[in-house]
Amino acid sequence: MTISIKTAQDIEKMRIACRLGAEVLDYVTPYVQPGVTTEELDRLCHNYMVNEQGCIPAPLNYAPPGYIPYPKSICTSVNQVICHGLPNDKPLKNGDIVNLDITVIKDGYHGDTSRMFLVGDNVANHAKRLCQVTFECMWIGIDAVKPGGHFGDIGAAIQKYAEKAGYSVVREFCGHGIGLRFHEEPQVLHYGKAGTGPAFVPGMIFTIEPMINAGKRDIKSLSDGWTIVTKDRSLSAQWEHTVLVTETGVEVLTVSAGSPERPETLLLG
Ligand code: MF3
Ligand code: CO
Ligand code: CO
Repeated sequence: MTISIKTAQDIEKMRIACRLGAEVLDYVTPYVQPGVTTEELDRLCHNYMVNEQGCIPAPLNYAPPGYIPYPKSICTSVNQVICHGLPNDKPLKNGDIVNLDITVIKDGYHGDTSRMFLVGDNVANHAKRLCQVTFECMWIGIDAVKPGGHFGDIGAAIQKYAEKAGYSVVREFCGHGIGLRFHEEPQVLHYGKAGTGPAFVPGMIFTIEPMINAGKRDIKSLSDGWTIVTKDRSLSAQWEHTVLVTETGVEVLTVSAGSPERPETLLLG
């Protein structure tokens, strides 16, 4: 297994691609309202990426081995959808939770980030708690990235916190190295054992994107070839940042004016 170490020039380009990815989320935020379809959100984001940012939407026609080409420009995962939800013509309802996952390509480099959105003013407290705890899981994973540590430290920290909240961690999908390719080595597990896996080396760039289920961890793939849902139909949430290992710690690359700030305190003490 070889994890690429990015050069100073690579890192400069990755900062740009990652900021642009986050800015797509900033742009689309006001449109995430009851009544809008996920297809409309896809269209808005596609046009913004292509016409305003001069970016390529990385998901469009992306076809990893064993998959049919992804037919849309963003992923929209509503309620019990864990990830890779295909935008469709069904309007979002007051009380839904939805993850919008954006990956742009700028100058050949990929920036990958996702956020949860609460749709309308009637989201149940249990759903809000799941979104908040999952946001905290992402940040706990980010905080586990430090010189001298190992990739397993990320998963161990996330799993511990998610399970303390009574939730489960999805195992089949993980974070990933990223750069000139969308999905590079290593696989960044969101569960596991501290001290295992490769060591962090300055210049590594990868995503941390925990998928946390309110119920059991088991997944089910839908017949559209992409959408992944919880087997027990419980709610699922996900947040994603792309990060760089530095000499002293970690730099979050997918930041923009509208990025939610890191949590000041944790919901579970
Ligand atoms: N953005 C997703 C990730 O975080 C991957 C989506 S692949 C797609 O890795 F083809 F569904 F877009
Ligand atoms: Co990703
Ligand atoms: Co993503």
